[in-house]
Amino acid sequence: MDEKVIQQIKQRYGIVGNYEGLNRSIDIAIQVAPTELSVLIYGESGVGKEVLPRVIHDNSTRKHNKYFAINCGSLPEGTIDSELFGHKKGSFTGALDDREGYFSVANNGTLFLDEVGELPLATQARLLRVLETGEYIRVGESEVRKTNVRIVAATNVNMQKAIREGKFREDLYYRLNTIPISMPPLRERGRDIELLFRKFAYDISEKYHIEPVRLTEEARMLLLSYKWPGNIRQLRNLVEQISIISQEREITPEILRSYGVTDDSLGETGLVLHNANREMHAPEMHSYEKERDMLFQLLSSIGKEVKDLKELVHSNIDNMQSVPQNHYGIYHEEEKEVQPYIVNKQQYQPQGSMSYPSHSIQEVDIEPIEEAPLSNKELMKKNIIESLKRNNGNRKKTAMELDISERTLYRKIRDYGLDI
Ligand SMILES: Nc1ncnc2c1ncn2[C@@H]1O[C@H](COP(=O)(O)OP(=O)(O)OP(=O)(O)O)[C@@H](O)[C@H]1O
Ligand SMILES: [Mg+2]
Repeated sequence: MDEKVIQQIKQRYGIVGNYEGLNRSIDIAIQVAPTELSVLIYGESGVGKEVLPRVIHDNSTRKHNKYFAINCGSLPEGTIDSELFGHKKGSFTGALDDREGYFSVANNGTLFLDEVGELPLATQARLLRVLETGEYIRVGESEVRKTNVRIVAATNVNMQKAIREGKFREDLYYRLNTIPISMPPLRERGRDIELLFRKFAYDISEKYHIEPVRLTEEARMLLLSYKWPGNIRQLRNLVEQISIISQEREITPEILRSYGVTDDSLGETGLVLHNANREMHAPEMHSYEKERDMLFQLLSSIGKEVKDLKELVHSNIDNMQSVPQNHYGIYHEEEKEVQPYIVNKQQYQPQGSMSYPSHSIQEVDIEPIEEAPLSNKELMKKNIIESLKRNNGNRKKTAMELDISERTLYRKIRDYGLDI
């Protein structure tokens, strides 16, 4: 390990930290850069995976050629093959011209495939072919073309699990994973947490011409004991929020707690975090799965409760004899119009002995009293904003929480103008 070279790289790319695991990852990136080997970068969300492909490209013989970073999770499934491999004019609706794909324009350069675990299976087959033979075919064509592209990929999902579930091709995984590099989670980096805090505090003070925030000794200890599920991205967001919102410049544990930092933050809930290093060496111990399974269980139990509640409401309505005018709206078949149905909590209680005629009541909309109803779109937008906040901007977790695909989330973020 050449310490001097590693320090130079850190300085050039703004990488802060001295943790041994971080230095080791940078060192592997430098060693592998001049080769043609494929590299797969592992690590939890927010650990800083995106800088390494650039380091690899800039230190390779390809450095004077093109470098493209492509987020596989954000490309719409319908156009992903065309984006990567190009298409022939008229090959599908909207293909008004011939188009070159990334594999063509990056010839002799490097392609960084971020979130590679999100690639659809059909695209995986095309990618495997180009990796093995350098050959690819544009969408809507049969002519075989050649390219010479070096692939660096990154993922924050458990690839072993994706393979087991049939979502990722094993042969492609081995082809991409020639050199694995793992980026350590922030909670393992010890004093680097403090260094990063200072860096972000300084950056924001420069940007907004304010005094940088600083930590008391107790606050420093609290930051070191926190689990940082959103890693460096979460730390940066936290420092930005505190710098702008807090009146204080000396940050105490109380202030940190008010921003959600707790010393036993995840231990008590039983959530276990993904550990990229363990994933590589002992896939079965990988614990991100457990966290995800727990979330799925939670979501499905919420779903069940909602379903039960819905059934209860409907059976109650079927049994209703009379309803106070100011509390209920009724769907009259002949009017074909839905009027607001406003229910207070007590009226949800099952009242088995009551019996109401059901003929006039077909369907109801439930709305909170005195609140203007949100459209589906507004509701989704609100949910996305809140969920992103809860998950410190982590889109994968947000998508999981909202039970939508990551691709759909990216699209909605774009459509709603939330992509800042
Ligand atoms: N060591 C570091 N020093 C300074 N900034 C860092 C460091 N590591 C990460 N960052 C910053 O943290 C943020 C998150 O990093 P990055 O986008 O690379 O995460 P990621 O691993 O790709 O996460 P995801 O899997 O969610 O895409 C970026 O703003 C990045 O610049
Ligand atoms: Mg990333």
